[in-house]
Amino acid sequence: MAAGTADPAAPLVLGIESSCDETGVALVRGAQLLGHAVASSVDEHVRFGGVVPEIASRAHLEALLPTMRRACEEAGATLADVDAVAVTAGPGLAGALLVGVAAAKALALALDVPLLGVNHLVAHVAVDVLVSGALPERSVALLVSGGHTELLDVRSPAGTGVGALRVELLGQTLDDAAGEAFDKVARLLGLPYPGGPHVQRAAESGDPAAFAFPRGLTAAHDLRRHPYDFSFSGLKTAVARQVDAHRRAGGEVDGPFVADVAASFSEAVADVLARKTVSAAQDRGVQTVLLGGGVAANARVRGLLAERCEAAGLALRVPPLRLCTDNGAMVAALGALALADGLGPSPLDLATDPGLPVSTIVV
Ligand code: KG4
Ligand code: ZN
Repeated sequence: MAAGTADPAAPLVLGIESSCDETGVALVRGAQLLGHAVASSVDEHVRFGGVVPEIASRAHLEALLPTMRRACEEAGATLADVDAVAVTAGPGLAGALLVGVAAAKALALALDVPLLGVNHLVAHVAVDVLVSGALPERSVALLVSGGHTELLDVRSPAGTGVGALRVELLGQTLDDAAGEAFDKVARLLGLPYPGGPHVQRAAESGDPAAFAFPRGLTAAHDLRRHPYDFSFSGLKTAVARQVDAHRRAGGEVDGPFVADVAASFSEAVADVLARKTVSAAQDRGVQTVLLGGGVAANARVRGLLAERCEAAGLALRVPPLRLCTDNGAMVAALGALALADGLGPSPLDLATDPGLPVSTIVV
């Protein structure tokens, strides 16, 4: 089915996302996104320099119904039209997940439609359906956000029927997520939260070769044990040391220094992400790479990955940014895929799972 094409026979799936600080609701029919609304509590976390789980949970509670109304309005649909309710069951923040799952259960029960508790990480991959019409039969997905950094091997053999979608975790960060590293480095440089966009802006006038920051887990002995895992805490410490040394030498943390650190740091992150993603695709004989998560907004991450993929003869798919960051459309898209794939429904006493493994697509 082509992206955006209406298939009137396909069920109308309502998707709810509440795993972190975005409340997302969307309506999807087949591969068509009909309506989509997101409310973010990011402004409420600014003064804490990171997501505060209790604040995020309360914000979801307040935002859920208005966001659902907006999504339905945009789709020109009412809740009575909904054929299934999909919701993020994990991984994510325990309290935040509970809000979305409780709402989804109430809706499914009241509307007498199936409930699908789905995996947030797999939903980041499934969103590609709304852009491309179908997932590639085989792909490597790189998910990079404030909460996650994962490399996944995704199999979606067309037309093979029940439960064909398979996802395998190839590697993940052993410490900070990529977006978290951007946020922490922004803080070291005196830039506001969330740091990614500010670091990117500062990096534009900087020299990416000014500082030789470490590329975590890329030495030969690390690659043997952790070929597809990431580590960004050493990089963050190296930036902190550079900033300290600069201050001790009487320098101000501003202007060209901030620009050079931002550019060199971004280069190190982009280099490791691109290197490991291309290796994973090559090692596994996969032709297509998918990129998702808020850090996909980073020009250098996208640019370097595109460059290296092209050099390696790999196709790169990057959904539009509003679908890369957390949203309800990805959850509805995975719900629709799961229904078509014969997965689910989930029981009405479905439990949230903050540590849900990526191999579990529907709980
Ligand atoms: O996917 P997302 O909106 O939310 C979750 O973390 O779940 O991702 C937010 C993360 C933050 O850490 C933010 O600093 C980072 O994505 N980010 C960026 C950029 N825009 C957002 N990182 C680097 N460069 C950017 N332009
Ligand atoms: Zn996410």
